[in-house]
Amino acid sequence: MIKVVYDIKVYRQVLRDIIKKDDVVVELGCHVGNSTRIIHNLSPDGRIISLDNSPESVNAMKLVTDDYSSVEFIKADVRLHKVLEDVAKKIKEIGRCDVLSVDLGGGYHPDTTFKVFFIWSSTLKPRVTIIRNRGLLDFIHSASTDELVKSEMGWLESSGNDGIPPRLKEFKLWSSKIN
Ligand SMILES: C[S@@+](CC[C@H](N)C(=O)[O-])C[C@H]1O[C@@H](n2cnc3c(N)ncnc32)[C@H](O)[C@@H]1O
Repeated sequence: MIKVVYDIKVYRQVLRDIIKKDDVVVELGCHVGNSTRIIHNLSPDGRIISLDNSPESVNAMKLVTDDYSSVEFIKADVRLHKVLEDVAKKIKEIGRCDVLSVDLGGGYHPDTTFKVFFIWSSTLKPRVTIIRNRGLLDFIHSASTDELVKSEMGWLESSGNDGIPPRLKEFKLWSSKIN
């Protein structure tokens, strides 16, 4: 299942609806860990790997990881291939990724959010992915089609079996905000 949301309250309700008590969750864009704490309460017997590249996440996430030993925080840019590769190794050791959350900011560039979703979900193969992004929600409700191609899992089964691409350099071509 792939859930797309925008409102942070809806995002957190969807987390409550989908996360099971021993789920392995990868959270992209944890910020200061407010949803990480919710995820931990929902999955007390599971594992959580949370990532964010903002300086303010560091001290806040230290408090979270001090409170909960099953939470691991990585300060990193999730657009980078090496970061995905490192997390993919951890997930391979754990054995599975149940839930992938992509919240880079509700109004964040939808193209980047989609790319991050596509690459990470194709690699980690989660049962469920939840994406928080206004542009993608707008696209879903605004687009129409007469053909049906549909995935049941948390990745795009029609095109998600290609493995980790060697580099994500093309991000640099897509946005002037990315250095
Ligand atoms: C809206 S906040 C996330 C809120 C959090 N999920 C919650 O529920 O409280 C978006 C976060 O995504 C992070 N972010 C944006 N782009 C990122 C990137 N390329 N790599 C890692 N983190 C990123 C930002 O630093 C920010 O903390």
